[in-house]
Amino acid sequence: MSIGFLVFGLAILYFFSLLAKFLHRVWWAPLRTQYAMELQGIKGPSYKFVRGNTVEISSMKSNSMRGNMELNHDIFSRTMPHFYTWINIYGKVFYFWNGEKAELVITEPELVKEVLNKSESYSRTDPDKYMRKIIGDGIVASEGEKWVKLRKLANQAFHAENLKNMVPAMVESVEMMMKKWREEKTREVDISKEFTFMTSEMISKTAFGSSYSQGEKVFNMLRQLSIITGRNAYKTKIPVISDLFKNSDDRESDKMEKEIQDFFLRILDQRKKETTREAHEKHGFGDDYLGSLLRANHDPVEKKRISVQEIIDECKTFYSAGHATTSTLLSWTALLLAIDSEWQEKARQEVLEVFGPHNPNSEGLSKLKTMSMIINESLRLYPPVPINERKTTKTSKLGNLIIPPNTKINMPILALHHDPAIWGDDAHLFKPERFSKGIAEATKNIPAAFSPFGLGPRTCVGMSFATNEAKIALCMILQRYTITLSPNYVHSPVQIMSLRPQHGVKVVLHAL
Ligand code: HEM
Repeated sequence: MSIGFLVFGLAILYFFSLLAKFLHRVWWAPLRTQYAMELQGIKGPSYKFVRGNTVEISSMKSNSMRGNMELNHDIFSRTMPHFYTWINIYGKVFYFWNGEKAELVITEPELVKEVLNKSESYSRTDPDKYMRKIIGDGIVASEGEKWVKLRKLANQAFHAENLKNMVPAMVESVEMMMKKWREEKTREVDISKEFTFMTSEMISKTAFGSSYSQGEKVFNMLRQLSIITGRNAYKTKIPVISDLFKNSDDRESDKMEKEIQDFFLRILDQRKKETTREAHEKHGFGDDYLGSLLRANHDPVEKKRISVQEIIDECKTFYSAGHATTSTLLSWTALLLAIDSEWQEKARQEVLEVFGPHNPNSEGLSKLKTMSMIINESLRLYPPVPINERKTTKTSKLGNLIIPPNTKINMPILALHHDPAIWGDDAHLFKPERFSKGIAEATKNIPAAFSPFGLGPRTCVGMSFATNEAKIALCMILQRYTITLSPNYVHSPVQIMSLRPQHGVKVVLHAL
């Protein structure tokens, strides 16, 4: 037998083994999973070769986003048409196919609670290649010892006592935003843009001793990356082949990742240079979040130490998570108050009773009962993070179901927040009075019925930071302006990672 013939034979063998692996992955394994799911009574749309249900999802999404919607809060079917449709066909627990991978969807509150509380069985999902450019391997993506270390640092930085000290910087950021509004008595603004700048300024100032203008380009790139992540979430990817070739999103996101990395390296260098020996002896590298990250980088105990790359990943995460969510919360709340002048007036009366014409302070913030009810109702109707995700780390028993390892679990919080079985037939109406006796009463003690900040050990670390900044901004606006809806406002909620107003929120501010 000649060498050529042998090489040819081996090549054919190699080709057939690759083909067998490919067919196992895209044909045999999905059929087996489908069979196993249906044996347990879990149903879902059937598997389509390689694509799964990605084509249906994209088409449902683009159909539902065609045109604008009427001004009401019944937004589940528009923003998540695939989940809405399949819940109606297959029930509150079902599965679908993201490519060749089955994903479970659960909207039963008891099951959601179980998943979010049992971190040993359900871990965070692996971020895809675009998402990884936003959050790196930081707190959001990590597990185990590394997560404990990073979470401890974040908890300390955003602890109640530290939040108190951040109030003046937050007030200053709102003042900056409102400075240009003073020129006119009546002014139309896209308030969601204003809130984006303001919340970016707040997180830059309070956590990193920086400013929005210094990091403007990075904020823009992080927003651009989240749009890329959103538009690639349900794209058909051919296993192996998709990883071999770079498309325009890959090239653009690689470039942005590099620029973001360089920016944060410069910020770190700058902080190290600014810290004189004297100051270092007194305060280390500063008492904000960046300071505590740098301190941890120099920790003499190796186990507690974090690397420069870990600092950068935390900076990226907090730049991104620290502004996008709160600015959408504020935008939706401004819309709700602009439509409902009665609740707007109730909120204003409360603010004037607590603070009079003065700027908010931390003691007063905890007395704002009406404001808290309004914020909760806004988070219920328009949760900025409308979907929470986990994956099984091992074969897991969930209620009566047995879920195989490495299965992604989607929990569309928005579905629970709009479920008439929990909230009643008026679930889609803005009624802050639901929360007058607290969250437990509003949810009739149903666990996980209301979880805008998640639940369990991975609950949002910035929850109190976000509610403080939202309250401060709303107080200061209500003290000075009445808000009405602009005739140019177009109602088009869209889910691109967070739940955003697609065309902004145009309101008219009337100076009081
Ligand atoms: C209205 C504003 C916000 C909302 C609705 C929100 C919502 C959430 C949700 C739903 C989670 C996931 C929880 C889970 O997996 O169970 C989360 C995690 C997280 N949030 Fe927020 N968030 C907000 C603001 C913020 C802010 C201002 C920061 C930073 C200052 C922040 C930092 C984080 C971080 C670091 C995590 C990951 C925590 C971990 O894995 O341990 N968030 N947030």
